[in-house]
Amino acid sequence: AQTVTRDEDGAVTVGGLPVTRLAEEFGTPAYILDEADFRSRARAWRNAFGQDADVFYAGKAFLSRAVVRWLDEEGLNVDVCSGGELATALSAGMPAERIAFHGNNKSVDEITRAVEAGVGHIVLDSFQEIARVAHIAQSLGKRQKVLIRITVGVEAHTHEFIATAHEDQKFGIPLAGGQAAEAVRRALKLDGLELVGIHSHIGSQIFDMSGFEVAAHRVVGLLKDIRDEHGVELPEIDLGGGLGIAYTSDDDPREPHEIAKALNEIVTRECEIAKLRTPRISVEPGRAIVGPTAFTLYEVGTVKPLDGLRTYVSVDGGMSDNIRTALYDAEYSVALVSRASDAEPMLARVVGKHCESGDIVVKDAFLPADLAPGDLIAVPATGAYCRSMASNYNHVPRPPVVAVHEGEARVIVRRETEEDLLRLDVG
Ligand code: LLP
Repeated sequence: AQTVTRDEDGAVTVGGLPVTRLAEEFGTPAYILDEADFRSRARAWRNAFGQDADVFYAGKAFLSRAVVRWLDEEGLNVDVCSGGELATALSAGMPAERIAFHGNNKSVDEITRAVEAGVGHIVLDSFQEIARVAHIAQSLGKRQKVLIRITVGVEAHTHEFIATAHEDQKFGIPLAGGQAAEAVRRALKLDGLELVGIHSHIGSQIFDMSGFEVAAHRVVGLLKDIRDEHGVELPEIDLGGGLGIAYTSDDDPREPHEIAKALNEIVTRECEIAKLRTPRISVEPGRAIVGPTAFTLYEVGTVKPLDGLRTYVSVDGGMSDNIRTALYDAEYSVALVSRASDAEPMLARVVGKHCESGDIVVKDAFLPADLAPGDLIAVPATGAYCRSMASNYNHVPRPPVVAVHEGEARVIVRRETEEDLLRLDVG
């Protein structure tokens, strides 16, 4: 958990540092990331799955060189899904064989770079890509390890999953209708490919284990079919990411050891029944590792009470640093962190500085009625899919990521400047 406490003035401290000092030194808005918390979550996943499994951190949640180094030190691998993420992982010194490359439309250039670098495996997402990666690997004189991503007919929603008979989405090759079996047939024939396993990712922010269990069951079913048809036992399965975190106190997330236990049990049992050697399991958590480790620190700019409705609290960031509320109707909490307050709670909506009314950070929240310009407020659980999905809407520079650790703070991604933005402007 984050090392968050309140000091005698009522200011919140994180990793031993008061947020008031962090705001002075680094400005606002800023993402404040607790390094010890990140490492301990990464370690919990590593320990839960043990040496017979691999944990690939999903870089799309948040990637920077510092984070890649922590992951390397904690014994985790990295999953990347673009040339940019690949470049970041490699430049931080992550060994290529511990990088997995994902995506439904990797370019020829991206595939070439990944194969040349020697990534551990590439996850193939379509028939064209099976041929494309085989061709590129062969022309480089290599045999690339690959997994085939299938859709198992389990559709995960935010708090539930529903089993679907057919698939209607851009990722993966459907198990239904024999398409996945056909993809395996083709991949096994191509010299440039070494097919090592099957991949499934059912969705994100999931609390119910049963979706993962159904997926594991169906993936093992395919391994059995492959053994029966080709006499080959594929050695690996990757069950993706997707474990949910607590954004508000209503959420009750599962722990890494719970998902490890559930997956290990079902895979072992199904393999025993099918008389298959138990494959090596991989998982790809992103949000569950980095999500809870950071909060966004904002300064309040204006406080506008609307009679009989609510009070609009404008902060110095908004949908450019957290698009999730506007995009997914995501829920967040918020707290006054620069001082204590005994004032009555008021119904507030925390909004950004962007030119649109959907620019909402926290839809409904209670904040003290004496909230005033200059106060600092914090929105927790913004470590995942906030900085990584940040934009420059309205030419607002993106905030920095500041890592705190044992009473010290350091910038791991610096604040963007207006100069950075202007640098792209030609003419
Ligand atoms: N593996 C694959 C193949 C994925 O597509 C994803 C996420 C993950 C792993 C990591 O999932 P996680 O453990 O972080 O849930 N922008 C959305 C989430 C999109 C996730 C896309 N894929 C959000 O802000 O909620």
